[in-house]
Amino acid sequence: MIDVQVSSDYLHVMVGVSGSQILVTGALGQIGSDLTNTLRAMYGEGSVLTTDIHDEGSQEGPFQLLDVLDYEAISRAISEYSIDTIYHLAAVLSAHGEKDPDLCERVNLGGLQNILDAARNHGCRVFAPSSIAVFGPDSRPIAMQNSPLSPTTVYGRTKKEGEEMMLKYFHNYGVDARGLRYPGLLSWTTPPTGGTTDYAVQVFYEIHENEKYDFFVRGDTKLPMMMMQDAIRATMELMGAPSEKLSRWRPGYNVRGVSFSAMELAHCIRSRKPNAVMRFIPDERQHIADTWPEDVDDAPARNDWGWESRFDIDQLVDSMMAGVAQSSSSS
Ligand SMILES: NC(=O)c1ccc[n+]([C@@H]2O[C@H](COP(=O)([O-])OP(=O)(O)OC[C@H]3O[C@@H](n4cnc5c(N)ncnc54)[C@H](O)[C@@H]3O)[C@@H](O)[C@H]2O)c1
Repeated sequence: MIDVQVSSDYLHVMVGVSGSQILVTGALGQIGSDLTNTLRAMYGEGSVLTTDIHDEGSQEGPFQLLDVLDYEAISRAISEYSIDTIYHLAAVLSAHGEKDPDLCERVNLGGLQNILDAARNHGCRVFAPSSIAVFGPDSRPIAMQNSPLSPTTVYGRTKKEGEEMMLKYFHNYGVDARGLRYPGLLSWTTPPTGGTTDYAVQVFYEIHENEKYDFFVRGDTKLPMMMMQDAIRATMELMGAPSEKLSRWRPGYNVRGVSFSAMELAHCIRSRKPNAVMRFIPDERQHIADTWPEDVDDAPARNDWGWESRFDIDQLVDSMMAGVAQSSSSS
């Protein structure tokens, strides 16, 4: 579990929402696992209903199987638990999405529409993540908030259309829908699956266990990344911001963590593990990485709701190494 410093980090965002009843979709995924811990620490275990399409059997607190393609089931869960806020994390990520584009569109767009319709009918607030995948090759090397969105992947197109759908529900139906364009997220608690930035997490596990790792991208592949602690804090700060402070970017604010190339990451790891052997053997995910920006500018997030990242690459590497060592020794 990531360190949840509720008192110092999140107290200011709890004002006025401390009685929230929360639904989390896709809660067993990489972000959901950590976000659930934070939400339960903030609002109490019984106030957070976690849901997913599969059941790992080991979850604590209220849990239901819930397919986001089933509107009636979503609506029933909201009524049963008097839900007022939804963290909608159920999705099919980039690398999986390119292999199964139909499923990617159905889950990422159909699922989001169901959640927004349910939010509209039950008066809920919604957080649903976007991604740096909304950008295409014309936004390289640095994607500004208002850079054109011309994604070349199915996943990226679902995220772009998702932002548009959220803005429409906000303007037309008053649904308080908010989102962030997450960069690649690094955490040691739940392994990432099916994303293009997964190498930046996998390398820490493989080096810890076997002292070697083959990156699936070239060494010069530079992408925006963020520690999970920063991503969770950004999520809570965005959801805690007064609605009137948010601009037209409310469904998809750029948030910057730290950007580095695969080679820079390998150097940083080798300076701490001199025997580590790392190679760069690109596979099909290289094509996706080549269309994404190397870095993002997040001026609107900083101006509108005070976003500021807390990790540089050295802190990130130290944190991941310590976290992976700890989780390996306790499993
Ligand atoms: N992890 C990242 O680096 C990253 C970066 C950018 C954006 N995002 C976005 O953040 C959100 C969460 O990502 P994540 O990394 O936790 O993904 P993940 O793949 O780890 O988890 C997604 C979860 O959704 C569930 N799911 C899939 N289809 C479902 C359905 N039909 N109904 C209910 N649940 C279903 C899966 O079982 C899984 O547990 C997604 O919208 C993703 O696009 C993630």
